Amino acid sequence: MKIMNNRTIVTLPGDGIGNVVLEETLRVLESAGFKADYIEGDIGWEFWCSEGNPLPQRTIDLIAKHKIALFGAITSKPKEEAVNELSPELQSRGLVYSSPIVGLRQHFGLDICIRPCRTYVGNPLNFIRRGAKGEIIEPEVDVVIFRQNTEGLYGGVEWSDPPPMVYEALMTHPKFKSNFGNVPKEEVSVSTRIFTKKATERILRAAFEYAKKYSYKSVTLCEKPNVIRETSGMMYRLAKEIQKVDYPEISLWNTNIDAQMMWLTKNPEDYGVIVAGNMFGDIVSDGFAGLIGGLGFACSAQFNDDGIGIFEPTHGSAPKYASYEVPIVNPIAMIESACMMLDFIGEKEIAVKIRDSVAKVIQESEIQSYDMKKMKGSPDVIANGAASTRDMADAIIKNL
Ligand code: NAI
Ligand code: MG
Repeated sequence: MKIMNNRTIVTLPGDGIGNVVLEETLRVLESAGFKADYIEGDIGWEFWCSEGNPLPQRTIDLIAKHKIALFGAITSKPKEEAVNELSPELQSRGLVYSSPIVGLRQHFGLDICIRPCRTYVGNPLNFIRRGAKGEIIEPEVDVVIFRQNTEGLYGGVEWSDPPPMVYEALMTHPKFKSNFGNVPKEEVSVSTRIFTKKATERILRAAFEYAKKYSYKSVTLCEKPNVIRETSGMMYRLAKEIQKVDYPEISLWNTNIDAQMMWLTKNPEDYGVIVAGNMFGDIVSDGFAGLIGGLGFACSAQFNDDGIGIFEPTHGSAPKYASYEVPIVNPIAMIESACMMLDFIGEKEIAVKIRDSVAKVIQESEIQSYDMKKMKGSPDVIANGAASTRDMADAIIKNL
């Protein structure tokens, strides 16, 4: 008889290496003593090609029912390529591909995205710089990025050759009229950057609350309020109000995204919690991820106000590595994402156990995937001493 666990997790392996890293992560979870039943949800390219929908309704229903999902990665391709790969009977239906992970974020309003970037001691990929006397410094990065996940420039409200009503409305703005008014309408493309007070306040509060809970001394708003006055400006105003009233013990820093990317390598150790809108949050989190080892280490959590949480590595499906007979990609980003899931559902002890083991494997530096060995990805890396995806997971399991 199958033993039923009282928790069901939806697994969404998706495409390419999503399958590989998720499978290894489930082994680690099991070995660490995490008890759950898993139901796999259909998502990704395969379902776009066969059904014309990379995010079938049955998958949405599964997540709505079980609330917690572990997501691997999906493959997205440009418009025309996507249509060409549809199965023949779907080709002429005018279907338009859109990313299922963006679809999930919007469908469930997964507006809070958290991306921690923390240095692992002994990771050969850690960022180093020179000090005043030419000495090598390896700053310890402990940054947690809060990215608004549903609005802004990724909100999907955009047009090329905008419809007349939109164009006329734009023409009522003096700046549009003077700067773009004499460009032919069909040569104008517009992508909107819409921020709402509710969602902006939620991401700000989530960031401050986290800083308070985990004793970070600062929250840095990373936007561009001096130029993008309405959206970034609103976010900055709200941040100041929230800090003053509810979090006076935490300092609020305000940096511009461009300057922040420069400070990234000058003084990354000075930052704690960073909060930003959708696109700048995406940019700044990739920037910080680069300091702690890159995509093989970058994990994320996203959730809404209704208890739905989806946990995923920041990396994509890395198609060029997907068909390797012995997979070589680093599973740590996915394993760390699963630890964020454990935090979310209250399994802190198991999360700590897994994180400690990951830290130990990295510090001992005997088992290292190709990225940690600074090799170029190829099937030869294993013969040249790199650990496979499975070797990495095995080492983590052994050290639990
Ligand atoms: P990618 O993240 O898949 O790969 C970029 C490069 O990063 C890889 O070639 C590899 O060198 C390295 N890399 C990625 N994951 C790694 C890991 N676990 N261990 C070691 N090295 C790793 O991004 P790319 O190539 O831009 O996109 C490939 C596909 O993935 C595209 O179709 C894209 O649309 C999709 N994508 C999906 C995302 C998601 O599912 N959330 C996010 C980003 C891209
Ligand atoms: Mg990104």
